[in-house]
Amino acid sequence: MMRKDVSALIQRAEAGADLAREELACLLSLEGEGQKALFAAADRVRARTVGDGVHLRGLIEFSNICRMDCCYCGIRRSNRRVRRYRMTPGEIVEAAQSASRLGYGSVVLQSGEGDALNPEELAGVVREIKATTPLAVTLSVGERTREEYALWREAGADRFLLRHETADPDLFARLRPGRRLEQRLQCLQWLRELGYQVGSGFMVGLPGQTALTLADDILLLKRLNVEMAGIGPFIPAPDTPLADAPAGTAQQTLNAVACVRLVIPDAHVPATTALGSIHPRGRQLALACGANVIMPNVTPGRYREHYQLYPNKICLREEPEHCAPCVTALVLGEGRFVATGPGHSPRWTA
Ligand code: 5AD
Ligand code: FES
Repeated sequence: MMRKDVSALIQRAEAGADLAREELACLLSLEGEGQKALFAAADRVRARTVGDGVHLRGLIEFSNICRMDCCYCGIRRSNRRVRRYRMTPGEIVEAAQSASRLGYGSVVLQSGEGDALNPEELAGVVREIKATTPLAVTLSVGERTREEYALWREAGADRFLLRHETADPDLFARLRPGRRLEQRLQCLQWLRELGYQVGSGFMVGLPGQTALTLADDILLLKRLNVEMAGIGPFIPAPDTPLADAPAGTAQQTLNAVACVRLVIPDAHVPATTALGSIHPRGRQLALACGANVIMPNVTPGRYREHYQLYPNKICLREEPEHCAPCVTALVLGEGRFVATGPGHSPRWTA
């Protein structure tokens, strides 16, 4: 496409026009000057819709026990090298309370897909956190039954993160043996019906993915009308079937972040840990092209090394008290400020 056409396309996207799949694929492939213009447009839309505040969500990785066998994931069931752990309900509540003391307005309770805590226990943890802190609580525990989602929602959970991973049904089925995209979309539908703020998202650079697949990923997020969209590079993990596949790049991932900001202007978009792990300034770059959320790790240090979905993850040797000032400095360094409060979707507070 000619340079003039690219700037016209970016202008239309910034003005909120619906883009065709091919047009999005074109934006996703931009390099050089075109990419710069895309990032600048996404940054303007971010400032206008969600402002300069960056929301911090403390991430508690409470168990790596998983019944699934996703080909990309370092804690997949067949990986015998992983030492499996579960935090006790008391430890999880304590981690949440310390996140609150560190100044975070919300926590994300994430685990593998397994029964490290039975559904009732997890509901109890949610109730306890809601009763003893002002935190918003997000769950990220995978594909579950509607009844379980309902139970946790009644216990007070505000949000749920369930990335769709890839919008290509064949690729999905190949990468997640035994599961289908359709089932995951059903889960997202239930979460929506139950009144959760819904987060989804995908990986960039999966083997077999194309610019058109990525365009479909973004159009799917738009159709789901997500409150949060998490996008990170695929990073090959040792002892998985994809160990030798190439990683997604920071450039591709940043293009996807910027496009999501243009297509879903008021979404919360994290500068992901995975992006920070493949590029020393990955999170900073994401903040400059559409992102407005960071999810600092608040998992106690002794568990962190066992929760490696991918290798060379940042902060593996840190404790929660180290990451808090580090992310604050990162945010201020980008000319932004740390937003206070639970950081609900603007759609919830408007
Ligand atoms: N590289 C990057 N991201 C990964 N995830 C899982 N495995 C990897 C990997 N190897 C992501 C998935 C999942 C989220 C918790 O982490 O998108 O939804
Ligand atoms: Fe953990 Fe920087 S965020 S050390």
